[in-house]
Amino acid sequence: MRTLRLGLLGLGQVGGGLYQICSAKRDFFIEDIGVRFDFKKIAVKNKSKKRSFQVPKQLLTTDAMSVVRDPEVDVVVELIGGTREAYVLVTEALKHGKHVVTANKALLAEYGDEIFALANKMKRWVFFEASVGGGIPVIKALREGLVANRLDSIHAIINGTSNYILTQMTENGKDFKEALAEAQQKGYAEADPALDIEGVDAAHKLAILVRFGFGGRVKFSDISCEGITRISSEDIAFADEFGYRIKLLAIAKKFSDGIEARVQPTLLPAGHMLASVQGSFNAVMVHGDEVGDVLFYGRGAGSHPTASAVLSDLVDLAMRQGSHFDLGKVPMRAIQRPLKVKSISAILSRYYLRFHIVDRPGVLAKISEILGKHQISISDVIQKERSAGSVVPLILLTHDAAEKQVRTAIQTIDKLEIVRGKSQVLRIEGNS
Ligand code: HSE
Repeated sequence: MRTLRLGLLGLGQVGGGLYQICSAKRDFFIEDIGVRFDFKKIAVKNKSKKRSFQVPKQLLTTDAMSVVRDPEVDVVVELIGGTREAYVLVTEALKHGKHVVTANKALLAEYGDEIFALANKMKRWVFFEASVGGGIPVIKALREGLVANRLDSIHAIINGTSNYILTQMTENGKDFKEALAEAQQKGYAEADPALDIEGVDAAHKLAILVRFGFGGRVKFSDISCEGITRISSEDIAFADEFGYRIKLLAIAKKFSDGIEARVQPTLLPAGHMLASVQGSFNAVMVHGDEVGDVLFYGRGAGSHPTASAVLSDLVDLAMRQGSHFDLGKVPMRAIQRPLKVKSISAILSRYYLRFHIVDRPGVLAKISEILGKHQISISDVIQKERSAGSVVPLILLTHDAAEKQVRTAIQTIDKLEIVRGKSQVLRIEGNS
């Protein structure tokens, strides 16, 4: 029997889920897995907060520092989120000889280099399965199951909140605000939901996937990041007319001169496997040089799914107790080798362009002339008929075009007297 003495930071959605699973499945873990989880201390913001489950009062403390320094704690489980306090607590835990399990993608994306270096120096493990894809064991799969591969691409839906909102807007005609409120109420959203809807949370997770998928570190600020706040029901409906779904996609591609790493709302053909990922579900599709395409799918957010991933790390740690320290889930090159992220303006993509134009003779010709001057070739067009002279949407799909050219062309088009408001520019993935 192996016993793991735990210091838990945070008893919210994920921490609460973890505590409940450990209590409910205590016998299962002891008898079937051979591991006993012994909670020594739990740091919370408010000891008297009403909880839907029972926790012995004497375990609770508001002094998180006392948890990470407690000599009776072997493993600190960091589930408070955010970066400032979490960074201080995690580094302090490592300095005090604790192993760390965290679900904190922001922390690892922004301070991963420092944290892994410190862990290596202290010969302590930092595990983070729950940081990407909620309950999907994708980190373990990249590290172990796909160890024989070099990856050349990652396409992922890794923000449950955004996917929930887009699904509600697409399938049930809900508006953005209502769908966001539902996602918050279901416990998917970050404390600051701007991180979800602005694409930052997905970019944090992409930074981690790239580190362990491509084997190298990226500067978080080099990942181009665009959220879903500018996606309207109109765009969703037009995309549908062309046979596409709009998804917030995290994309990384490897090229000989660097990598692309970006988070963006993307049009995917309705038949694409990622297009059918609904609600808070996440999916990560990777392409390995030996295995080809592999798709991981499951619940990407929420209390028990995320706690399930934390428990996989805890069992992993329990099994390593007393064994020689190695970098474990952190291959050396993922710490040492920097990867060059290409500028977003250097990418080549197909585009969905939506303009609001005054319906007058020659308008389409004028816009296509500007696009043509920038080597942007149109593959499809929809213009909605209304009375002549009224403002109508005009939607164009393009063949592969250079991002830089598209941006310059759109700037010119947006200045035309016949164009109203700011045009919509979305990238298309998944076919050519
Ligand atoms: N806010 C995150 C999401 C939670 O919506 O995916 C899981 O990391």
